[in-house]
Amino acid sequence: MGRREKPIDVQSSPVAAFAGDLRKLRAAAGNPSYRQLASVALYSPSVLSDAAGGHRLPTLPVAIAFARACGGDPHEWERRWREARGDSTPTEPLPIVAVDDQAEPGQPRPAQLPIGPHDFVGRLAEFDGARAAMSGIAESRVPVVVRGPVGVGKTAFALRFTHQLAEQFPDGQLFADMAARRADEAAPLEVMAGFLHALGVPPDQVPEDDMHRIGLYRSMLAERRVMVLLDNVRDEPQVRPLLARSLNSQIVVTSRSRLLGLDGVRRISLGPLSRVESLDLLRLLIGSDRVRAEHAAGLRIAEFCGHLPLALTIAGRKISAQPGRRLSEIAGRLAEGVNVANWLRIGDISLADAVLPAYLSRPPLAKHVLHMLAGGADEVTPAALARALHISIESAEYAMDSLIDGGLLHRVSEPDRYLMSPLIGQLVAQEADRFALRRGQDQHDTDPVRAAIGFTEGGFVR
Ligand SMILES: Nc1ncnc2c1ncn2[C@@H]1O[C@H](COP(=O)(O)OP(=O)(O)O)[C@@H](O)[C@H]1O
Ligand SMILES: [Mg+2]
Repeated sequence: MGRREKPIDVQSSPVAAFAGDLRKLRAAAGNPSYRQLASVALYSPSVLSDAAGGHRLPTLPVAIAFARACGGDPHEWERRWREARGDSTPTEPLPIVAVDDQAEPGQPRPAQLPIGPHDFVGRLAEFDGARAAMSGIAESRVPVVVRGPVGVGKTAFALRFTHQLAEQFPDGQLFADMAARRADEAAPLEVMAGFLHALGVPPDQVPEDDMHRIGLYRSMLAERRVMVLLDNVRDEPQVRPLLARSLNSQIVVTSRSRLLGLDGVRRISLGPLSRVESLDLLRLLIGSDRVRAEHAAGLRIAEFCGHLPLALTIAGRKISAQPGRRLSEIAGRLAEGVNVANWLRIGDISLADAVLPAYLSRPPLAKHVLHMLAGGADEVTPAALARALHISIESAEYAMDSLIDGGLLHRVSEPDRYLMSPLIGQLVAQEADRFALRRGQDQHDTDPVRAAIGFTEGGFVR
């Protein structure tokens, strides 16, 4: 539950009185911790505790999110907030509740979002960041780009975010999995045609001309209050036509790539979970009792998973399907060495299925860098790589950037270097062995790295 709050003198000012009311509401809700509230309100614990601190009036969205998370009526709390601010007539467009949350009658109201994960942990600072892109009251909303490596939880984060805010977008929610599309130019415009149709434009009135189609789409987003989620975007050209700034609509994009070529977007980067969050996720998946009873073993399992949500989810579901097994025995097996591709697989989800296509689609030089990292050098700088391969630093940087944008490597600063998750390293090494074995049988090239990257005497081939 954390430290006790400092008492406030509710008589001293309307702001203090408002904070006092928020505290009472929280007490009436059974005094949930600020961390618990944060997971519902999607603001960080510090923002929420500050709202009830009595020093300054929280912003309206924070006040309402606080009240809602404690079961309060948002309209009632909006009224109280205005009173505390000394203004009883609304003077500004309200981001949370003052939007008329009714859709226009007779207008189709698409609801295309897939369901998100039920068990969700952490990411509070990132939610704050994503909300900031939306909270410009006078300005238009900026598209949010959620990026990060394979399996880090980009889709889960975006779904959580868009579902939580869906009621602010009463004219509908649009969704497209951009990875399911062909790689050519037409893809974004095909997606757009589908969106226009979902918003009520009859198929024969969807403009054939690209510019007209884009214009109609952006005009509709400007007029209506729509949430658009574009999942798994590959590169900038695939998403650029679908972006728009709008006062009423919000676009959210997820991508492994940083999409550095896009202008005017807000980027949210996701990394592995913290140790505490990883254990929270294991608890949700395996059960608190088992994790509490074998805390140290739970932590070793989380570490084996590199705190990567996809790996943790697979491991957690696997362990929960083996109720009699001790965590220490599982952690011991993992420490002895397992085949990662086989162990991190359950039902139809597998870490290898997520990582290997990303690996296979990289250019040969980038693959070679991965092999170097998988072979034991767990971090590398562009200068070291350039020396080792007798290539220019620019080529080395290019290869590494391609790995970052493929979601396989991440960059850390101070000192500037590149790291690979050990799990990805093991998958890559195992894949290289398998590949080399296959090639070795017909080409007698038994050097796994050379074989897997397609090295010939003349250099690299694709
Ligand atoms: N913050 C989180 N809390 C709980 N589970 C998560 C979280 N982030 C991701 N997951 C789970 O991890 C798996 C991979 O997440 P996903 O969003 O598909 O990754 P990505 O889109 O980055 O490849 C999914 O099963 C998802 O439900
Ligand atoms: Mg995804």
